[in-house]
Amino acid sequence: MAVTRTFSIIKPDATRRNLTGAVTKMLEEAGLRVVASKRIHMTREQAEGFYAVHKERPFYGELCDFMTSGPVVVQVLEGEDAVKRNRDVMGATNPADAAEGTIRKTFAESIEANTVHGSDSEENAKIEIDYFFDKDEIVG
Ligand code: CMP
Repeated sequence: MAVTRTFSIIKPDATRRNLTGAVTKMLEEAGLRVVASKRIHMTREQAEGFYAVHKERPFYGELCDFMTSGPVVVQVLEGEDAVKRNRDVMGATNPADAAEGTIRKTFAESIEANTVHGSDSEENAKIEIDYFFDKDEIVG
């Protein structure tokens, strides 16, 4: 299995509850390596651009409000089959549907305040990594 990269966000509900380390520990225990990480407060423009694919969805405005409501930690994760590995440990988008032992089952408060974002494909991972990171910020 090839070593690949994915993009992750530890969301404002997690930074507010001081869960950055606890979430990262679960990512690492799932076989992912943090090769870039920074804590930022997203601007409205950044959030709207990042979630532009959801622009027509009814939750878009509230999602952008939430993602700019506090600091987030954006990360690049590396590992074998990183996109799937990350999505497996994250669990379902809605914590009510997430499996035991996943990050969202353990920590998420709601479908919106669901603790983590992870890329859904390798193609999107590349786009999302480029959206937040310069090449020299990623040290594998
Ligand atoms: P994320 O992986 O960051 O991608 C889009 C986000 O929209 C998703 O996680 C959810 O947190 C958020 N969201 C809010 N409401 C909904 C909803 N009704 N259906 C799907 N996603 C939602």
